[in-house]
Amino acid sequence: MTRKTIFLDRNENNYGPAPACYDILRKADLSRLSWYDRSFNRGIKGLLSDRLARDFGVAEDRVLLGYGAEHILKQAIQCYLGKGKKLMVPAYSWWYYKKIASEVDGLSVEFPMTVGKDRFLYDLPAMREVYERERPSVVFISSPNNPTGNSLTAADLEAILGDFRESVVVLDEAYVYGTTTGYVKDLIESNPNLLVVRTMSKYYALAGVRIGFALMGKGLTHLAKFSNRYLGYNRLSEELAIAALDSPEYYREIAGKMNEDKERYYEALGRLPGFRVFRSDANFILAEIPPAQKVELKAYLEARDLFIKFMDEALLNSHVRITIGTQEENRRVIDAITSYYD
Ligand SMILES: Cc1ncc(COP(=O)(O)O)c(C=O)c1O
Repeated sequence: MTRKTIFLDRNENNYGPAPACYDILRKADLSRLSWYDRSFNRGIKGLLSDRLARDFGVAEDRVLLGYGAEHILKQAIQCYLGKGKKLMVPAYSWWYYKKIASEVDGLSVEFPMTVGKDRFLYDLPAMREVYERERPSVVFISSPNNPTGNSLTAADLEAILGDFRESVVVLDEAYVYGTTTGYVKDLIESNPNLLVVRTMSKYYALAGVRIGFALMGKGLTHLAKFSNRYLGYNRLSEELAIAALDSPEYYREIAGKMNEDKERYYEALGRLPGFRVFRSDANFILAEIPPAQKVELKAYLEARDLFIKFMDEALLNSHVRITIGTQEENRRVIDAITSYYD
């Protein structure tokens, strides 16, 4: 179904889930909704954790399931942060990190990123310097990072994890653009203090079913116990997630289209006066726009039923973050922004 108003402000995937997910709903045996899933009796959390364990080549007890990645991030904070303890986060990051730290009276400390020619970059020496100074209990790294869109290279990730062994490290991979599983097993094997968090919300277009999952190093037993559930998870959501995991070609095709459209955005917005567009590894792009036009451009787009995110944060306040929508939606947004400057 196409809707007139186009929301490209929350990094959802407007292509929608794979056809196999619709089949699950059409053919669902609704009588089963009356019963708990009995996976716990088999010593596993659910069908989905079992499936993910096989995909990632890890034991099932290394997989956590949650009500979206946000639920797992919050559980990690509730386990390992507390009054006066420190959470270290990127200076440009998802606002939610600091919010959940404040909920347990924890403190947030930030590490800077550098801004390269056409992308944001993690700055390893700066991360180490802040780490040594602040001695945080928990570190959040997001790769690709929201809202800057940059990732850590595998080599940088390995190097920095080696330096952060005294803390719990959460690698938020909500925006991993694809189904890569390979490196995660090695990472959690060599870093017992590491939690790698993923979601079905973004790439798999299942934000509404609220499924997140994580792969954990063996040192995080407190979190494993804390997040344990005895009566199972949402059976239908698990089946939908598995149907999505079974549809890699569908999602690969969408990723291809999104990559093409990111290039279109870089090109079209990069030509506009006062714009600076940052290359992104996620399903959104970030662009700096002339501050004087922020309010007017927002109103101009909203009058055309186009909603993108106008950033309003201390370090990013003349920036827009645009979710990559369908090709038709992206064309509309690019046309509208360029027509504003005609
Ligand atoms: C960086 C990041 N991590 C995690 C999430 C949460 O995703 P969900 O709770 O839908 O799995 C978001 C949502 O926008 C996000 O931006």
